[in-house]
Amino acid sequence: MKVIIVKNYEEASQKALEVMLGVIKNKPDANLGLATGSTPKRLYELMREDHKVNGTSYKKIKTFNLDEYFGLSQDHPQSYYYFMCTNLFNELDINMDNVHVPRGSGDIDKECKNYNQLLKDNPLDIQLLGIGSNGHIGFNEPGTSFDSVTHKVDLKESTIKDNARLFFNGNIDEVPKQAVSMGIANIMDAKKVLLIACGENKAEAIKATIDGKQTIDMPASVLQNHDDCIMIIDEAAARLLETR
Ligand code: GLP
Repeated sequence: MKVIIVKNYEEASQKALEVMLGVIKNKPDANLGLATGSTPKRLYELMREDHKVNGTSYKKIKTFNLDEYFGLSQDHPQSYYYFMCTNLFNELDINMDNVHVPRGSGDIDKECKNYNQLLKDNPLDIQLLGIGSNGHIGFNEPGTSFDSVTHKVDLKESTIKDNARLFFNGNIDEVPKQAVSMGIANIMDAKKVLLIACGENKAEAIKATIDGKQTIDMPASVLQNHDDCIMIIDEAAARLLETR
């Protein structure tokens, strides 16, 4: 793992932009694995700005999102599909046929199977990740097998609370209790992984991920085994690291 410690969220987002644009410039038809949550918001804003100002094109890019809430349709304002459109896709020249977010409704078993096939047919050049305060990546909660592929998950109470605080107007009853997520094996198959972690509430998960032993109880610790994993961490999230 290559650990880059930066001052704050803004610097983390700028650094992440460099990595992302590096991949796109090197391969204009790259397959990007994308993430949701509050962490990548500024990065997406910077990508939109870069597209507008510098003309970086997404015409040949394909995207594959990590996860989606179970039971929310794509046009629900809290769905991850909607999040991606409003935070990124609507202002890029991307072909929406090349945008993939797992569907959280309909025949879920079939959806998971199809998504796994899609990922097999379109190997990811980069997978962007945030991290949950309990160490989850995508929606792979503690206890998820490292061999897992796209599957339906039950969200932990802490994740539901975290996500209610930042989204859903703080209303915990509105947060779906289940989701569909790429599995850990799908994430590990990406050629490059870029994880961004900012803020005090990520410090314990980051310490366990980097300094701790590999365990399914800390899903992000699997990344210790990835050949090309970059972690961009701000000072607050890096606070407990031994190797600073
Ligand atoms: C959700 C997403 C994750 C994300 C995590 C952290 O659970 N499924 O992909 O990394 O939240 O969110 P935030 O970036 O808002 O802290």
